[in-house]
Amino acid sequence: MLPPILAPSLLAGDHANLASSAALAARHGARWLHLDIMDGHFVPNLTFGPETLAALRRAGVKEFIDTHLMLAEPQRYSEAFAKAGASLISIHIEPRYDHAAELARIRGFGCQNGIVMNPDTPASAVLPVLDKVDLVLVMTVQPGFGGQSFRRDMLPKLAELDRVRRERGLKFRLEVDGGIDLATAAECRRAGADTFVAGTSFFKAPDIAAFVAGFGKLA
Ligand code: DX5
Ligand code: ZN
Repeated sequence: MLPPILAPSLLAGDHANLASSAALAARHGARWLHLDIMDGHFVPNLTFGPETLAALRRAGVKEFIDTHLMLAEPQRYSEAFAKAGASLISIHIEPRYDHAAELARIRGFGCQNGIVMNPDTPASAVLPVLDKVDLVLVMTVQPGFGGQSFRRDMLPKLAELDRVRRERGLKFRLEVDGGIDLATAAECRRAGADTFVAGTSFFKAPDIAAFVAGFGKLA
């Protein structure tokens, strides 16, 4: 089992001072940051663009930036996010485009890649690309907004993807995103997840150090 990674989501940070939210996460030991990119089409909300990411890098953010593209046409924007300093770029399986080609392009930009699936999308949808990815992200809420309730019915999907990973001897990370706190992270860990996005539970925690310490016990 891969060691657990916590990826605080800047969506729940201070949008007037994202660099300070990134620094806060880094001070608490986070090596990954999760950045949610929404286009108002694939999801009913808008967030950040490539310039936001470039500005974070210019401000000195050194952490691994896990860039989650919730875009109807990710192929139009992935290069801009790679140039802006993304470490990993994940793209959804639901929109129609050449997923395999786009995953290869992202690696060609020097980034890790990931494939993402919405709650209503079955694990079978991503099986054809599992040998082409560094990360599989199982959405545990309908994407678009932070602060939603964890979808416990996603646990069998995680277990299935973890099983396929072992059967095929694959090495991708298995990430969960949406409604993750210490309790739901533990449930996802038992189902095979190793990478945990935490927005609200991290940035709004009354005691972030205690949250991180609790997360450390997942291993
Ligand atoms: C939701 C985003 C998530 C969001 C999670 O569409 O993809 O990354 O930040 O927020 P929480 O952890 O508050 O559910
Ligand atoms: Zn996300």
